[in-house]
Amino acid sequence: MSSSVAAEAARRRTIAVISHPDAGKSTLTEALLLHARAIGQAGAVHGKAGRQGTVSDWMDMEKDRGISISSSALQFPYRDTIINLVDTPGHADFSEDTYRVLTAVDSAIMLLDAAKGMEAQTMKLFEVCRARRIPIITVINKWDRPGHEALALLDEVEQRTGMVPTPWTWPVGIAGDFHGVIEQWSGDFIRYTRTPGGSTVALEERFAPVAVEERDRADFDAAQEEVELLAADGYVHDAELFAAQATTPVLFASAVSNFGVAHLLDVVADMAPAPSARPDRDGVRRPVGSGFSAQVFKVQAGMDKAHRDRLAFARVCSGVFHRGDVITHAATGRSFTTKYVSSVFGRDRETLEEAFPGDIIGLVNAGALRAGDTLHGDEPVEFPPIPAFAPEHFRTVRAADPSKFKQFQKGIEQLDQEGVIQVLDSETRSRQNPILAAVGPMQFEVTSHRMANEFNAPVRFDELPYTLALRTREEDLGAINATSGVEAVERRQDGAHLALLSGKWQVTWIKRNHPDAMLEPVSVDVGE
Ligand code: G4P
Repeated sequence: MSSSVAAEAARRRTIAVISHPDAGKSTLTEALLLHARAIGQAGAVHGKAGRQGTVSDWMDMEKDRGISISSSALQFPYRDTIINLVDTPGHADFSEDTYRVLTAVDSAIMLLDAAKGMEAQTMKLFEVCRARRIPIITVINKWDRPGHEALALLDEVEQRTGMVPTPWTWPVGIAGDFHGVIEQWSGDFIRYTRTPGGSTVALEERFAPVAVEERDRADFDAAQEEVELLAADGYVHDAELFAAQATTPVLFASAVSNFGVAHLLDVVADMAPAPSARPDRDGVRRPVGSGFSAQVFKVQAGMDKAHRDRLAFARVCSGVFHRGDVITHAATGRSFTTKYVSSVFGRDRETLEEAFPGDIIGLVNAGALRAGDTLHGDEPVEFPPIPAFAPEHFRTVRAADPSKFKQFQKGIEQLDQEGVIQVLDSETRSRQNPILAAVGPMQFEVTSHRMANEFNAPVRFDELPYTLALRTREEDLGAINATSGVEAVERRQDGAHLALLSGKWQVTWIKRNHPDAMLEPVSVDVGE
């Protein structure tokens, strides 16, 4: 059996798109599905007005705002591979979910807007990928619109990420005048022709260099010269360097016109890594062919208003999973049957029969599961927890109606356990009025929405001046609390001692007065 599991694992490509809002992630996702023939017409995923409803908007609030709060996984076959595209929230705010999703993938597509280059959120997400050492494919999108020069964009990627960009395709025509691309490995020119509305796959014609037509000749020659210069300078793909995150293949695209999408799918199929052995808590690597194991990376509640259910998303790490199997929750040692496991394709849940390493499964009504938890079959294993990320936003919370305190406490407890928000306790604050901490302010909105709708305990927040949390030790709490404008707290989830500060200057101040006090970053190192 394990050889077939290993073969199925080898076909899997589990990947996420990381980008700044508006770079075109939804459009690209849709285009990828269209090319892979997973959907008939563009418009089924994109949630903007006037198009068909997005398949990844679950919560009411999400629908109201037209954004994706929850992360979904789309699975589709392409050639002989199975691609699991794990969605990251597409809004301007950042939340811990965005980070956690990246613990479930084996590689990422970094999507840039040709007119904007590396933007703030792309950089933040890239940092998480770097910490996890996952290989990155770079796509420069919106080449149909005026933008920076291709060489300048490569330079920016190299400067900002430290990865050497290795063009896999190179644009023929400047940004805003996109004729097609030169394939780096064949030297051929692929000419793109847009279909009306971009709703079906774009027409692609292949020309050997000698056969390039007169109308494309000047632009082709200019592009060819650049390709040769880049190759001479060593900007060439190398599988090992890519796997080590030292290089990143670069493709040029116009997602809205479906240009460059087929090349991207081929790169994902040919270069993106398949699932491989994951280290357990003790650092022992568990081969993909061993017994079933999976790690929960996200718990989502309230997606289906009629059922009030909770769906835990887990990535299969090893073995095969069959519906009905009895699996064990490593944290509690409890076993449960898995009648209601679903694969998730946006709004539609299909009952899942089996899943292999790299696949994402949704476990319905999995009340006890939390992000980071391990599930296993007969061969026990426990993977290292997903670290809590450094919060940057802090508010106190209280029940809007004090008579609802019981519900309030239950709700806050629950949301803390799910990882929706981090709850911080301190000696100086009561349980009626704890501090909530978040990576992105959106987490407060989700908290408020769920407290009102699910726990029947509407809440009020009060802003706190803090912008920074640093890890400290119990013995330093006195020094921390003695500093004005700084507060020592304990994170309820893991008991970590944190110092909340309103500026970096306070670190200097504390260090000067208490040289032995520990103040260290709350790590985003989610690597092995
Ligand atoms: P996101 O998920 O990363 O936030 O981006 P999304 O796909 O929603 O795209 C943001 C905007 O950029 C959309 O325009 C989309 O049509 C446009 N876009 C995406 N890819 C390309 C591309 O390759 N070329 C050009 N020119 N535009 C692109 P919008 O006006 O906000 O929405 P819509 O009304 O066009 O849907």
